[in-house]
Amino acid sequence: MSYLGVLSSGIVWLSLSTIFISIPLATSDDHENDRQTLLCFKSQLSGPTGVLDSWSNASLEFCSWHGVICSTQSPRRVASIDLASEGISGFISPCIANLTFLTRLQLSNNSFHGSIPSELGLLSQLNTLNLSTNALEGFIPPTLLNASHLSLLYMRNNSLTGLIPFFGSLKNLKELMLSYNKLEAADWSFISSLSNCSKMTKLLIDGNNLNGKLPHSIGNLSSSLKWLWIRDNKISGNIPPEIGNLKSLEMLYMDYNLLTGDIPPAIGNLHNLVVLAVAQNKLSGQIPDTIGNLIKLTDLKLDRNYFSGGIPVTLEHCTQLEILNLAHNSLDRRIPNQIFKISSFSQELDLSHNYLYGGIPEEVGNLINLKKLSISDNRLSGNIPSTLSQCVVLESLEMQSNLFAGSIPNSFENLAGIQKLDISRNNMSGKIPDFLGNFSLLYDLNLSFNNFDGEVPADGIFRNASVVSMEGNNGLCARTLIEGIPLCSTQVHRKRRHKSLVLVLVIVIPIISIAIICLSFAVFLWRKRIQVKPNLPQCNEHKLKNITYGDIAKATNMFSSDNLIGSGSFAMVYKGNLELQEDEVAIKIFNLGTYGAHNSFIAECETLRNVRHRNLVKIVTLCSSVDATGADFKALVFQYMRNGNLDTWLHPKDHELSQRKALTICQRVNITLDVAFALDYLHNQCATPLIHCDLKPSNILLDLDMVAYVNDFGLARFKCNRLTANQDTSTSLPCLKGSIGYIPPEYGMSKDISTKGDVYSFGILLLEIITGRSPTDEIFNGSTTLHEFVDRAFPNNISKVIDPTLLQDDLEATDVMENYIIPLIKIGLSCSMPLPKERPEMGQVSTMILEIKNSASHRHVRSSYDLADSIS
Ligand SMILES: *[C@@H]1O[C@H](CO)[C@@H](O)[C@H](O)[C@H]1NC(C)=O
Ligand SMILES: *[C@@H]1O[C@H](CO)[C@@H](O)[C@H](O)[C@H]1NC(C)=O
Ligand SMILES: *[C@@H]1O[C@H](CO)[C@@H](O)[C@H](O)[C@H]1NC(C)=O
Ligand SMILES: *[C@@H]1O[C@H](CO)[C@@H](O)[C@H](O)[C@H]1NC(C)=O
Ligand SMILES: *[C@@H]1O[C@H](CO)[C@@H](O)[C@H](O)[C@H]1NC(C)=O
Ligand SMILES: *[C@@H]1O[C@H](CO)[C@@H](O)[C@H](O)[C@H]1NC(C)=O
Ligand SMILES: *[C@@H]1O[C@H](CO)[C@@H](O)[C@H](O)[C@H]1NC(C)=O
Ligand SMILES: *[C@@H]1O[C@H](CO)[C@@H](O)[C@H](O)[C@H]1NC(C)=O
Ligand SMILES: *[C@@H]1O[C@H](CO)[C@@H](O)[C@H](O)[C@H]1NC(C)=O
Ligand SMILES: *[C@@H]1O[C@H](CO)[C@@H](O)[C@H](O)[C@H]1NC(C)=O
Repeated sequence: MSYLGVLSSGIVWLSLSTIFISIPLATSDDHENDRQTLLCFKSQLSGPTGVLDSWSNASLEFCSWHGVICSTQSPRRVASIDLASEGISGFISPCIANLTFLTRLQLSNNSFHGSIPSELGLLSQLNTLNLSTNALEGFIPPTLLNASHLSLLYMRNNSLTGLIPFFGSLKNLKELMLSYNKLEAADWSFISSLSNCSKMTKLLIDGNNLNGKLPHSIGNLSSSLKWLWIRDNKISGNIPPEIGNLKSLEMLYMDYNLLTGDIPPAIGNLHNLVVLAVAQNKLSGQIPDTIGNLIKLTDLKLDRNYFSGGIPVTLEHCTQLEILNLAHNSLDRRIPNQIFKISSFSQELDLSHNYLYGGIPEEVGNLINLKKLSISDNRLSGNIPSTLSQCVVLESLEMQSNLFAGSIPNSFENLAGIQKLDISRNNMSGKIPDFLGNFSLLYDLNLSFNNFDGEVPADGIFRNASVVSMEGNNGLCARTLIEGIPLCSTQVHRKRRHKSLVLVLVIVIPIISIAIICLSFAVFLWRKRIQVKPNLPQCNEHKLKNITYGDIAKATNMFSSDNLIGSGSFAMVYKGNLELQEDEVAIKIFNLGTYGAHNSFIAECETLRNVRHRNLVKIVTLCSSVDATGADFKALVFQYMRNGNLDTWLHPKDHELSQRKALTICQRVNITLDVAFALDYLHNQCATPLIHCDLKPSNILLDLDMVAYVNDFGLARFKCNRLTANQDTSTSLPCLKGSIGYIPPEYGMSKDISTKGDVYSFGILLLEIITGRSPTDEIFNGSTTLHEFVDRAFPNNISKVIDPTLLQDDLEATDVMENYIIPLIKIGLSCSMPLPKERPEMGQVSTMILEIKNSASHRHVRSSYDLADSIS
C-alpha cells in the first residue's frame, strides 16, 4: 500500500466518522418505539378495507407501511405520514408525539374528529401539518407554538372554535390556513403578533366568525405576504390605510363583511395585486383613482356597496382585467369611454344597478373576449351601438331598465352564441329581427315593455312562448297564437288586399265599396271581440307562484292578531312565514266585502305587474282563491321590511315605539332620494306613466339598511290607460284620491289626477321629513298648512321649524344647515306649490337631491356616510 493510499483511506475513514458523529444515532429501541407509536396511532383509526392493511402485516417493515416515509438521514425513523383523502375516521392519538423525527403530518380530507391533541407541540421537527377538511373541534392548542419549525399550517374546513392563538413565535411560518372554521377574534392582536413571522406568504382566515375592526398593525405583516383572505366574516370598521404597506400582495379578499368608510387610496401601492375583492360590504365614497395603478389586476369586485361618484378613468391602465363588477352601488356619472377599451375583459363586466347615465360608445366593440355584459338598471340612453356585435363570444347581454332607444342593430346577427338577451324596459322600437329566431343557444329572451312593432318572428326560440317575453309592446302582432299578442293575419290580408285594390280600382269600382264594407265589418268584429273578452289584468305572471288560502292561514298563524302589522281602507296587512320563501313576508289581505276592494286588488296587481324598481316594494306572490267558507279570497304577498314604515320613524310617539332612534340627516337625505327615484321611475321611466296618488310616510317602508321602498299601489293609476277595456274598472273606483294633508289642492276642485299631484305629496313628505311635523299636526289647526308654516320661516328662521334632533351636534350644525337642510327645504317648498304648473318634474327633483347628496358628501365624506354605524 502506497503512502498515498494510506492517506486517502484515512481521509475516507475520517469523513465517514464525522458523518456518523454529526447525526443522532438511532438505536434499535428507537425503531421499536416508532413501530409501537404507529400502532398506537392506528389503534384510534378505522378506514375502508385495504387502506391500513399493511399496518398490520407482521412481515412488512413499518417504513413500507402505506403512507409512511422514513428519514433518509436516520433510516427507520418516521419522517412523514401522509394519509390524505383515504376515507379514514377516528381520533388523532396523542401518542403520535413520540415520533420525534416527524417533519410532515398530512391527514387532510378524512373524517378525523375530536380535538387536536396538545402533544403535537412536542414534535419539534414538524414542518408541515395538514389537518384540513376533517371534523375536528375545540381549540387550536397553544402548545403548537413550541413546534418552532412549523412552516405550513393548514386547518381549513373543520369546526374549530375559540380564539386564534398568537402564532408570533413560529418564526418560520409561511402559510397559515384557518379558513372555514368557527374562530373568533377578541381584539385582533394576533395580527400584530404575526408581524414576527417574516416569511409569511399566505394568511387565510376567511369564513370564520371574526368580528371587530381590522387593526392598523395589519400593515406590519410580512412584506412577503402574497395572499390575504379575510372574506366572509363579520368584520366592521374602516379598511386601515396601512394595508398599502403589503407590497407583495397578489390576492386580497375582504368581501362579505361589514366594512364601512372608503377604500383607502393607499391601496394603489399594491402593484402586484391580481385579485381585489371587497364586494358586499358597506363601503362608500368614491372609488379611488389610485386603483388604476394596479396594472396586474385581473379580478376587481366592488359590487354591493354604497360607492358613489364615477368609475375611475384610470382603470384604463388595468389592461389585464378579466372581471370588473361594480353592480349595486350608487355610481352616478357617465361611464368613461376608456372602460370599453379594455379588451382583456373576458368573464364579466357588470355595471348594473347604479345611476349611470349617458350613452354606450362605439368602443364597446373592443370587448371581443367578453362573455357577460350587464349594464341593466341604470339611466343609460341613446342607441345600442352596432359595434357591440363584434363581441362575438358574448353569452349574456343584459341592458334592461334603461332608456335605450332605436332598434336592435342588424349587426347583432353575428352574436350567434348568445344565450341570454334582455333589453326589456327601454324605449326600443322597430321590428324584432328574424335572425333572433335562428340563435340556437338562446334560451332566455326578454323584449318586454318597449315600443317594438311589426310581426313577431315565427321560428326558433319564438316557438317556445315560455322563454320569450314580449308583453308591453303595443305594436306587435303574431302569425301564430302567442298569449297577449294579437294575430296579425287581418293586417297582412289588409295589406295584400290593399295592393290588389290598386288593380281592382282600375277595373270595377263597386267591388271596392263591397271590399271596404267587408273590411270594416271585419275590423268591427275584430274590435268587438276584444271588447267582449276584455283584456282584464292578468295577475298570474308566470314567475309568481299562486298560493292558496290554506298557505296564508298557516303563514299568519290563523290570522293571529300578533301578526297583524297594519290595516287600511281595503285591506289588512299581516306578517308571516311562507314555506316557499326563506324570509319573512308581509301579506296584504283584501276585505272583499268593502266596496272598491276588489277593484283595488285588480288595480294593484296590474300596477305591480308593470313596475320594477329598486325603490318599489317587490311582490313575492299572490293568492286568488276561496276561503274556508267558499267566499272569494284575494291577497298579495310582499317582502317584509324589518324597519317598518317611515311614519313610525318620524313620529315615534304616536306608535309607542319611542325606542326608535331619531333619523340622522344622511338617512333622511337618502330616504328622500330613494322616494324621488321611485316616483321618477313611475312617472317617466315606466312603459306607461303611472301616478301613485297616495304618497305619505306610512306608505314608505324601510329595510334593514334603511333603504326606502314606496308601497301601496291600491290607488295608483296609469296616466293614459293602455287597455281601453280597463277604463271601466278605474272610473268605477270610489273617488278616493289620496290622504288628507298630502292631497294636492287641485284634486279637491275635482281636477284630473296628474303626475304633478304626486309631486305635491312628495313636497309635503319632504317638508315633514325635515321638520318632523305631520301636515295634520294640531298646531296647524286647520288655519295654515305645513307649506305655509315652513315658507314663513324660510330661510332665516328655518332652524326654529326643523326637527330639533338634526342640529344637536353643534360642530356640524352649520354644515348640515347649509348643505342639506336649506337646499332640501327649497325643493320641498317648490314641490308643494299650490299651482301644479309651478311644481318641478320628479326627474328634476331626483337630480337635485342627488346633487345635494353628492356635493355635500365631497365636503365631508366620512361624517355623511357612516350611515351603517349610525343605524346599528
Ligand atoms: C404482507 O406483505 C407481504 C409483502 O408485501 C405480502 O406478500 C403479503 O401478502 C402481505 N400479507 C398480508 C396478510 O397482507
Ligand atoms: C377527498 O377525498 C375524496 C375521497 O375520500 C376524494 O374523492 C376527493 O377528491 C378528495 N378531495 C380532495 C380535495 O383531495
Ligand atoms: C411515548 O413513549 C413512552 C414510552 O414508550 C410512553 O411512556 C409515553 O406515554 C409515550 N408518549 C405519548 C405522548 O404517547
Ligand atoms: C393540505 O391538504 C389539502 C387537501 O387535501 C391539499 O389540497 C393541500 O395541498 C394540502 N397542503 C399541503 C401543504 O400539504
Ligand atoms: C369541507 O368539509 C366537508 C366535509 O367535512 C366537505 O363536504 C366539503 O367539501 C369541504 N369543503 C371544502 C371547500 O373543502
Ligand atoms: C414549550 O416548551 C417549553 C419547554 O419545553 C414548556 O415549558 C412550555 O410550557 C411549552 N409551551 C407551550 C405553550 O406548551
Ligand atoms: C416576536 O419575537 C420577539 C423576539 O424574537 C419575541 O421576544 C416576541 O415574544 C415575539 N412575539 C410574539 C408575539 O411571539
Ligand atoms: C409596526 O412596526 C413598527 C416597527 O416595528 C412599529 O414602530 C409600529 O408601532 C408598528 N405598528 C403597529 C400598528 O403595530
Ligand atoms: C322614446 O322614444 C320616442 C321616439 O321613438 C321619443 O319620442 C320619446 O321621447 C322617448 N321616450 C323617452 C322616455 O326617452
Ligand atoms: C336562418 O337560418 C337558415 C338556415 O341556416 C337560413 O336559411 C336563414 O336565412 C336564416 N334566417 C335568418 C333570418 O338569418
